[in-house]
Amino acid sequence: MARILLGVTGSIAAFKACHLASDWTKAGHTVRVVETAAAERFVTPLTFTSLTGEPTRTAMFPDSPAVPGDVAANPAPATINHVKDAAWADLLVVAPASADVIARIAAGMADDTLTATILAYEGPKLLCPAMNVHMYDNPATRRNLDVCRDFGWTVLDPASGTLACGDTGRGRMPEPEEIERAAATLLAGGPDGPREDGPQENGPQESRPQGGADAQATASLPLMGLNVLVTAGPTQEPLDPVRYLTNHSTGKMGYALAASAAELGAHVTLVSGPVALEEPEGVDVVHVTTARDMFEAVSDSFAAADITVMAAAVGDFRVEEIAPEKIKKAGRESITLTLVANPDILAWAGGRKRDDGSQVLCGFAMETEHLVRNAARKLAGKHCDMLVANDLREPGAGFATDTNVVTVLTPGGPDEQTPHIEHWDLMDKTTLAKRLLLRLAALRK
Ligand code: CTP
Repeated sequence: MARILLGVTGSIAAFKACHLASDWTKAGHTVRVVETAAAERFVTPLTFTSLTGEPTRTAMFPDSPAVPGDVAANPAPATINHVKDAAWADLLVVAPASADVIARIAAGMADDTLTATILAYEGPKLLCPAMNVHMYDNPATRRNLDVCRDFGWTVLDPASGTLACGDTGRGRMPEPEEIERAAATLLAGGPDGPREDGPQENGPQESRPQGGADAQATASLPLMGLNVLVTAGPTQEPLDPVRYLTNHSTGKMGYALAASAAELGAHVTLVSGPVALEEPEGVDVVHVTTARDMFEAVSDSFAAADITVMAAAVGDFRVEEIAPEKIKKAGRESITLTLVANPDILAWAGGRKRDDGSQVLCGFAMETEHLVRNAARKLAGKHCDMLVANDLREPGAGFATDTNVVTVLTPGGPDEQTPHIEHWDLMDKTTLAKRLLLRLAALRK
C-alpha cells in the first residue's frame, strides 16, 4: 500500500481527480489531496476529505478553516504540513496540472501549499497537464515542461479532443485509468520510483491491484496468507438467570476490522460477544457471552494468529456467584453484589506473543479522561505493538457510531517511556479498519 499525495490545480478536469482519489483509496492506498486556491473553486476540500478520509491541504496560512468547522484539515500552519506531507508520501501526482502550476514548478517557486510541498518532495512524481491547446502549445509551457522533465517529473502527455473552451486539439487531461497505470508503474519501481529510503507501508505480500490490467493480474492482496484474530462487541456477565452486567459496545469497530481483514486477503477468526450485527462474509465467527468464554476462544486461536486486534469491550468484573434463581426484590431496600476480576485477555496475549516480531498485537482503549496517558499505560502494560485509543465524548467517536476518531500509539517514541503518538482525523470505521490492518501488517517482522 502506498501513500499518495495528489496535487489538484484549477481546471475543469479537477473532477477527474475525484475519481483518482476514490479509486486509489478503494484500492487500499492512503491518499492525501493538496488543492490550490483555484482548484477549490472547482471541487471543495470537503469532497476530497470525504473520498479519502484524509485531511485535504489548502491555504498555506488559513485564516479560517477551509472546510467550515474543519480545523483538523489544516491543524497548523502548512509551513509544517508541506514538509511533513512531502516526507510522508511515496508518490506525488499533480492532476490536473495547469499551465500556471507547471510554470511555478519549473521556476522552483513555493508560494502556496502545493508548490511548497512539491519543492520539499524528493520521490517519484507524475505530472498530468490539462489546459487549452494554445496554452499547451505556447513555447513557454513547452519549455517549462522540459524543465520539469529535467527535474525528474514523469509527464503524461495530454490527450487530443474537444476542450472545455470549445477549441480542438491537445490539452485534455488523460483519463484516470491512464494516470492510475502510470502511477502504478512508478510505484512498482518504474522509471523514477519508488524511492528506496522513503517511508514504506507495504504489507507482507505485494500491494493491491493499482489500476492497470497488468498490475491487477500480478498483484496479490496485502494480508494474503496471514491469520487475523479479532475480538468484538461487549461481554455479558450474568447475575441470575434473567439479568446480566454489560456495556454499550455494539461491535461495529471489531466487525469492520474482521470484514476488512477478510477483504484484504487474510484468514479471519472473529470472537464476538453478543451483538446485533450480521456475520461478515468469509470470516470464521466464534460467538461467546462472558469474558471467560471470550478468553477461552482467544486462547484457542491466538498461537496461530499473525495479527490480533482486540476491539471487544470486555467486562472487567463478574459476580462472584451467579444466583441460581431470579433475585427477588420483595423485602429488600438494597442489594450488594460481590464482583471478582475477569481475566485480562489482551494482557494474557501480550505476555505470550512470539518474541521474534512475527506476531503483532493491537488493543483498543475507550477513555473518558486522560486519553493518551491511560492509553500509553495500556500499550506498555499489556505489551501491545499498537494501542488505538478513542474518547467516548469526542463527536463521531465511541459506541454505536459508524465513524471513529482515534489516537494511535505505538512503542518507540522519543524515549523509552514515551510512545509514538498519532492523532487520526474522523473517518468511517471501515476506512479506519483497513488503515490499522495495513499498519499492523507493516509492523510484522
Ligand atoms: N481487555 C481484555 N480483557 C479484559 C479487559 C480489557 O482483553 N478483561 C482489552 C480490550 O479488548 C481492549 C484493551 O484490553 O483492547 C483495553 O480495554 P479497556 O477496558 O479500555 O482497559 P482496561 O485494562 O480494562 O482498563 P480500564 O477499564 O480500567 O480503563
